[in-house]
Amino acid sequence: MICLKDVCKTYWMGAEAVHALDHASMEISQGEYVSIVGPSGSGKSTMMNIIGCLDLPDEGEYLLDGQPIQGYTEKELARIRNQKIGFVFQSFFLIPKMTAEENVELPLIYRRLPASERKRLVKEAMEQVGLDGRMQHKPNELSGGQQQRVAIARALVTSPSLFLADEPTGALDSHTSEEIMDLFHELHERGNTIVVITHDESVANLAERKIRIKDGQVSEVAI
Ligand SMILES: Nc1ncnc2c1ncn2[C@@H]1O[C@H](COP(=O)(O)OP(=O)(O)OP(=O)(O)O)[C@@H](O)[C@H]1O
Ligand SMILES: [Mg+2]
Repeated sequence: MICLKDVCKTYWMGAEAVHALDHASMEISQGEYVSIVGPSGSGKSTMMNIIGCLDLPDEGEYLLDGQPIQGYTEKELARIRNQKIGFVFQSFFLIPKMTAEENVELPLIYRRLPASERKRLVKEAMEQVGLDGRMQHKPNELSGGQQQRVAIARALVTSPSLFLADEPTGALDSHTSEEIMDLFHELHERGNTIVVITHDESVANLAERKIRIKDGQVSEVAI
């Protein structure tokens, strides 16, 4: 489902090259739960941006569901992201003025689904994260863990083929982190493909398979 072959990404700081990804290769199959773990500056966010079709490699190849990502326009990449990928970020990225329900509904509005269908899907997603009693709350009326649940419901609502999470527990205390990681486990049990990017070994160890990244290079490690 995800196939990276010799992917390179280099940032130039004046004349100096930073090899954020250095011939990185990996394969992730449908239904897997994989963590990508590495220290600060190792290339995790760069990798997240490429897997999530937010950025393109300079060299090498990225196939998502068998389709090469290179050569798409920004508009086409946006459509691929909306159709295939559910993003979860450390800082939730909810829209403060909108209720939980409206935040979760947003990706469905981009898809131009009718209102009754949107309502049904939003309710289903909010039930799956255990927050159907908080539909009318705004983000600042929710706890951090609840806000991350809303963000997960928003990622879930379009039934994406891939859940891509960058430090999903980075802003949460250890108890709430456990609850969120339990939720990822449940989503995986229901057949979803999950990639969690983290610097935290204990979070990484909850996955089925762990991929390590260091100085932009990828290696596989046992859990
Ligand atoms: N826009 C950029 N311009 C120049 N260098 C960059 C840029 N983005 C990232 N880098 C460099 O690329 C390397 C990888 O960065 P990246 O953000 O992918 O690391 P990370 O593993 O996500 O780190 P962290 O855990 O701190 O978020 C780092 O050395 C960083 O300084
Ligand atoms: Mg990062």
